[in-house]
Amino acid sequence: MRTIYKRRSIRKFEDRPVEREKILKVLEAGMNAPSAMNQQPWQFVVIDDQNIIKKVLEVHPFARPAKEAPVSILVCGDLEKELAEGYWPIDCAAAVQNMLLEVTDIGLGGCWLGIYPKPERVACLKEALSVPETIVPFALIAVGYPAEDKEEKKLFDSSRIRYNRWDVLYQQ
Ligand SMILES: Cc1cc2nc3c(=O)[nH]c(=O)nc-3n(C[C@H](O)[C@H](O)[C@H](O)COP(=O)(O)O)c2cc1C
Repeated sequence: MRTIYKRRSIRKFEDRPVEREKILKVLEAGMNAPSAMNQQPWQFVVIDDQNIIKKVLEVHPFARPAKEAPVSILVCGDLEKELAEGYWPIDCAAAVQNMLLEVTDIGLGGCWLGIYPKPERVACLKEALSVPETIVPFALIAVGYPAEDKEEKKLFDSSRIRYNRWDVLYQQ
């Protein structure tokens, strides 16, 4: 729970690169996520070329953290690996969350930048990275050493929990 409380969206970063070993740890965290039928329908692109990010910013109004960050990781769905139809975005989301938790745990900061299902964002990244037809850009994660401090957050809310039937709350 400590890492879960600590994870926040970090949008400002120090001007220093992230070590390759740390990037690999973050990727390993993504690859260890659960997936439907264990299909692991993900592929990753490590991006530190600001010319690519510049193109993303033209179609994505909330992608500024990727401009601030020394590196971003694009998580993509691989439709050729899909065994359980329709589940690939859910699996990729699980991978992204694992990666954000690992980012936090190793002293980095990160921010999830939504790509899928916005068609113009998906198309932009497909074009910019020359990805094959069966690969779908899903989310961009801006990663770097944090240059902002954010409070831990705890959002537990017992009114969101029911017990056996909808009209009975689960008492703490
Ligand atoms: C699917 C998804 C898409 C998101 N897209 C963006 C985005 O494009 N730009 C951005 O700055 N933050 C984005 N976020 C981060 C959210 O704004 C952030 O998680 C939320 O405000 C809660 O703050 P916290 O992450 O610090 O707990 C996204 C988060 C999710 C889960």
